[in-house]
Amino acid sequence: MLDFTFYSPTEFVFGKETETRTGQLAKKYGASRVLIAYGGGSAVRSGLLDRVKASLDAEGLSYVELGGIQPNPTEGKVYEGIDIVRKENIDFLLAVGGGSVIDTVKAIACGVYYDGDFWDFYIGKAKVTKAMPLGVVLTIPAAGSEGSGNSVITNSETKQKLGIKHPMILRPRFSVMNPQLTVTLPAWQTASGICDMMVHILERYFTNTPHTEVGDRMCEGVLMACINEGRKVMADPTDYDARANIMWTATWALNTLLKCGTQGDWEVHQIGHAIGLVTDATHGMTLASVSLPYYRRVMHDGLHQFRRFAVNVWGVRPEGKDDGQVASEGLACLKAWMDEIGVVTHSRELGVTEQNLPAIADAALILNSGYRTLTRDEVVDILRESM
Ligand code: NZQ
Ligand code: ZN
Repeated sequence: MLDFTFYSPTEFVFGKETETRTGQLAKKYGASRVLIAYGGGSAVRSGLLDRVKASLDAEGLSYVELGGIQPNPTEGKVYEGIDIVRKENIDFLLAVGGGSVIDTVKAIACGVYYDGDFWDFYIGKAKVTKAMPLGVVLTIPAAGSEGSGNSVITNSETKQKLGIKHPMILRPRFSVMNPQLTVTLPAWQTASGICDMMVHILERYFTNTPHTEVGDRMCEGVLMACINEGRKVMADPTDYDARANIMWTATWALNTLLKCGTQGDWEVHQIGHAIGLVTDATHGMTLASVSLPYYRRVMHDGLHQFRRFAVNVWGVRPEGKDDGQVASEGLACLKAWMDEIGVVTHSRELGVTEQNLPAIADAALILNSGYRTLTRDEVVDILRESM
């Protein structure tokens, strides 16, 4: 096990109608004038935005709005937000939405104190040292940004989709999590989020780091919850308890608790982000399409763990089979589950074509944190297999 620091101070307020407590929470964490950020309209249509505003009103907090943040968020809304914060004397940021809104708010939170372009943080030209306090009202379980210090933004000018992380500075002060709010999600969007959380766990489960029994056991437990509760949510979208379990799964899938003492991989995410950059496809679907081709390629480099995944998570019986056979059966179970919940496992359906393969492969960062470092040709092969 590697050395680590675990720091996760977000206050999670979980349950029915918890959005009515947003004003109290914002006040508790120092708000007097709030920037409320939200997406393309779901929070307006459902009446959530009005309930959140009423809750701020009840605490005497004033606010300004920044709506229209799109999935796979780009730099434009970050600049707009930084401008509003500076002009309007905003002292607290509130994200009402999913990963795209939360990540935009995190970019605003650190960009506001920086004289240069906030994008410098994402390309490693500047380090985040300070950020405004932020809170979250979560509407979709997927990215896990409500409990992390990470933010992923697409730069439409430079054609890059990149992330930053700062667990001490960029973590939300609080996250309001009402599973009832997720009932309005389209089924494919729910499935995409479930696949995203599944891959978040797998990115840290398939690891080279030995002797991580606590992390492995926690990952296996949360993976099994994701599999079973995911099935229930897809079968009955109105099942509150399944929705609640899936929402809580998403948070812990990304929060660093599960990976304490291990080196994560994250190559599936790098290739998925590159697909998202070129096609603007939904994040979880990009992962669904490339994860199996990637796992098949590295399976023999991490055979022990892939075998363990098959036996402990999927209940594959190992008797009379070699390790490769057991591991392959585990991946077949994963594929069957993905088909069952209805995610897209062929990247062609997301807009990947033979012509844009080179552009996607060039945009994918090749990390050296997995079982082995891929070559660019292997990334192209994985993408071709994913089609
Ligand atoms: O924009 P609105 O109208 O709100 O609609 C959204 C959006 O179209 C809709 N939606 C959200 N809640 C809803 C709802 N529709 C009906 N009812 C509700 N309750 O869902 C769509 C997707 O929203 P988005 O915020 O994009 O989803 P998600 O949470 O999956 O976030 C995806 C973004 O997060 C990044 C992804 O790359 C992508 O850009 N990620 C961020 C991470 C992080 N910060 O740590 C890690 C992840 O791996 C990921 O990379
Ligand atoms: Zn993800």
